Amino acid sequence: MNPSHFPTTSRRAFLKAAGSTAAVSALAGIKIPFVHAAESSTIEIALVGCGGRGTGAADNALSVSGPPLKLVAMADVSKGRLDGSLQNLKTQHADKIDVPAERQFIGFDGFKHAMDALKPGGVAIFTTPLAFRWVHFQYAIEKGLNVFMEKPLIADAASARKMYALAEESEKKNLKVGVGLMSRHSKSLQELHSRIQDGEIGEIILMRGYRMSGPLASAFSEKWPGTGSELLWQISRFHSFLWASGGCFSDFYIHHIDHCCWMKNAWPVKAQAVGGRHYRYNYVDQNFDSYGVEYTFADNTKFLMDGRCMVGAVPMYNSFAHGSKGLAIISKSGDCGTPSSTYKGQSPDKENLIWQSSDTSAPYQNEWDELVSAIRNDTPYNEVKRGVDASVATSMGRMAAHTGQEITLEDFMACEDVFAPGVEKLTLDSPAFLPCDAEGKYPVPQPGILKKSEYAIPKPA
Ligand SMILES: NC(=O)c1ccc[n+]([C@@H]2O[C@H](COP(=O)([O-])OP(=O)(O)OC[C@H]3O[C@@H](n4cnc5c(N)ncnc54)[C@H](O)[C@@H]3O)[C@@H](O)[C@H]2O)c1
Repeated sequence: MNPSHFPTTSRRAFLKAAGSTAAVSALAGIKIPFVHAAESSTIEIALVGCGGRGTGAADNALSVSGPPLKLVAMADVSKGRLDGSLQNLKTQHADKIDVPAERQFIGFDGFKHAMDALKPGGVAIFTTPLAFRWVHFQYAIEKGLNVFMEKPLIADAASARKMYALAEESEKKNLKVGVGLMSRHSKSLQELHSRIQDGEIGEIILMRGYRMSGPLASAFSEKWPGTGSELLWQISRFHSFLWASGGCFSDFYIHHIDHCCWMKNAWPVKAQAVGGRHYRYNYVDQNFDSYGVEYTFADNTKFLMDGRCMVGAVPMYNSFAHGSKGLAIISKSGDCGTPSSTYKGQSPDKENLIWQSSDTSAPYQNEWDELVSAIRNDTPYNEVKRGVDASVATSMGRMAAHTGQEITLEDFMACEDVFAPGVEKLTLDSPAFLPCDAEGKYPVPQPGILKKSEYAIPKPA
């Protein structure tokens, strides 16, 4: 078991308690390079993955107050996406953008060039699908760059092992690294967390998370048209492919899994689950239509996570913690939507209300304000281990549903399947990892039949 799975005081918490990284490193005799930006200097940014979230994250970065941040390089595998993102950002932040044609990079190696364009102390933003996360992060560490990377961080154990090792390396190098699990930066959820720790609802005995809606993003795919690159087509529809994203389960449900585990101060030790493909006649993606996962914590309490992508079924998008004395609504609506609230007893009735949050700040902006503040003040800030923990917990639930087996943390971490072998060597001409069959279909999970693998993974050529 990876030690970072224990919900005990982490090295990060120790660093925080002990004061500055410099003080702690002096105590521990560790030499930590000076990488933070001086208070007055401009922080340069490179954006790798210029889609919806990448553009949003760059907007958040450029909206941080104080000495300016400047976008100086962009990389994507699609020129259209890069162009669209640049145009969009220019309309909002024209004076903070300096990305001439020679610092726009198209291709799988674009991330290197974009990071090469940064001065030390700069921030690389990783907002591609997760399959590329460890590849890009490894290079950022080599270059001594700070990073903001989107969730999830891994979908298979092989990548988790790599990311845990990289997390340690980045901490040793005193890099500041934010991970886009923005619930942790919601001031409402922060207050709720502290109220729960103070015993406001008693001991947590059950939690529930729901992300149930109609079809979302690229989680449903019809057949590849058969022309152009199948690999790039899969990347553009990454929610459909487990190698690229961990599928809709990892991509959509991780926020609730992360913040419920935070409220409990623990990661689950095992998961069992149900799920199936009911309406996928014309769709070739690897997702189920519905998932119901029962996570178990070390103290035997449970967390139920339900997910569904289905037209006409009741939509639900919220999360709850049931305690021995009362109830908490964690996210009222959405990934971490306010207000959060606590109640006496188990009914969320007005007369039982104990507390309701009033903060309206945006967690997406808060996470950037806090990352940049840590860079400017050289205070410890590294969310990678926790981001991998959350991604592992999420993947355990997904694997339990896809295999029809109880999956412990050890089972997940021992799984040898590599979803994206050779991802670090891709070029724009590379074939797809997961080619379609003669009917245009891809291997899907077969619970109870494939018990150790989530799908029949083709052997690398
Ligand atoms: N925290 C959140 O609430 C939140 C919200 C949305 C998305 N996300 C995460 O952000 C990531 C991106 O999601 P999105 O919705 O922006 O997707 P998107 O498809 O809009 O953007 C992804 C971009 O990455 C590019 N890309 C893919 N592979 C690349 C590579 N190897 N090198 C360079 N560019 C590459 C694509 O061409 C595309 O432009 C996902 O991990 C997703 O889970 C997080």
